[in-house]
Amino acid sequence: MTDTRPTRRQVLKLGAATGAAAGTLAVLGQTGAQTGTSTAADPARAGDLLIHQDGPNKGKAVKAAELKVGVAVWAIAVDPATKKPRDPLKSGVVLVKLASGKIKASSKPNAAGDVVAYSAICTHQGCPAKELGSLGQGKGNIICTCHGSIFDPGDNATVLGGPAPRRLAALPIKADASGQLVAKAAFIGKIGT
Ligand code: FES
Repeated sequence: MTDTRPTRRQVLKLGAATGAAAGTLAVLGQTGAQTGTSTAADPARAGDLLIHQDGPNKGKAVKAAELKVGVAVWAIAVDPATKKPRDPLKSGVVLVKLASGKIKASSKPNAAGDVVAYSAICTHQGCPAKELGSLGQGKGNIICTCHGSIFDPGDNATVLGGPAPRRLAALPIKADASGQLVAKAAFIGKIGT
C-alpha cells in the first residue's frame, strides 16, 4: 500500500503555504483586486504568461506543443506589467495534456486544445498537487501526495478520491500566436484551502 504521509519537505511547504496564503489572501480584496492595479502578489490574471516553475526549463515560457500526455508540468504566472513571477502560493499551476477525447465539457472552455491548467495548491491542507498518478485510481490524474487526494484533470479537477473537500481552482488558458501558454482569465474557484 502506498505511504501517503507527508514528507518533511511537504510539511515545510505546507506550513509556508498555509501561513503565507492565509495572510495574503485575506488582504486580496483590499489590494489589486480592489484598486484595479496588478501586483506580483495577486493570483494569475488574464494575459499572464506561464513559465516553468522547475526542471531544466525553469523560467522559460511554457509552449503548448512541448507538453506530453502523462507528464505534468508545474508552472507559474508572470505579471506582464512587471515581468515578475507572481506568488507561487497563489499562482502555481499544474499543466496537463490529456489524450485526445479525454477532455469533458466541463473543462473544454478553459483548455488550450488538450491542455488544462489548475491551481497546484491542494484544497485539503495546501500541499502541492502537481503530479500525475501512475497507479490505480490515481493513474493519469492529478494527485496530492500528502494525504492522497486525486483530481480528474479532464473533468474540471473534480475530486475522485482522498480528503480534499472540493476541486482545484481552474485557470483558463490559451496559446498565443507563438504557441506560448497564457492565462485568458483569472482562476475560477477558490485557491487552496
Ligand atoms: S493536503 Fe491533504 S490531500 Fe492534499
